[in-house]
Amino acid sequence: MYSGCTFALPSEAATVALGEQLAKAVVAAGARMVFLRGDLGAGKTTLSRGFLQQLGHEGHVKSPTYTLIESYPQTTPPAHHLDLYRLADPEELEYLGLRELLTSRDICLIEWPERGSGCLPPADLTIELRYQDERRTARVSVGENSVLLRHISTITI
Ligand SMILES: Nc1ncnc2c1ncn2[C@@H]1O[C@H](COP(=O)(O)OP(=O)(O)OP(=O)(O)O)[C@@H](O)[C@H]1O
Ligand SMILES: [Mg+2]
Repeated sequence: MYSGCTFALPSEAATVALGEQLAKAVVAAGARMVFLRGDLGAGKTTLSRGFLQQLGHEGHVKSPTYTLIESYPQTTPPAHHLDLYRLADPEELEYLGLRELLTSRDICLIEWPERGSGCLPPADLTIELRYQDERRTARVSVGENSVLLRHISTITI
């Protein structure tokens, strides 16, 4: 069963703030697999910036558009930010070291998870960013983790 909440994102700062709050919830619930869905430019990397800074990363968050993966070994817990838009085949995930990532407890933030379909584990948390008629929203949904759902339902931005 999936449930979740929708947030209005009137500014870039709101997207960053939601990323920070979601990072707190994911850490508190011991979750790790975060999918970011939404069109090009919807705000996935912007939200990831707030998330990674909340985990302790300082400074710039580079979009993994070309490298496909950027790792943050110094954050607590360590995190990996992936953008699978340019993945030609889900099997290429092997070359990104996916197997080691999946056996670790590190957090994975994955933009364009649909490109890795069939090779990724289920998401603990899915964030769907929408940009329609000048209005931006985020629909956040949670898989089986009821502790995570409880944390998310208390978020206000
Ligand atoms: N809530 C918001 N209000 C206004 N601008 C925003 C908001 N969220 C993000 N932006 C802006 O939208 C632009 C695109 O954002 P971002 O790079 O995060 O998108 P993306 O979903 O990661 O795109 P891609 O699929 O290309 O990786 C950036 O210039 C960012 O500052
Ligand atoms: Mg991006």
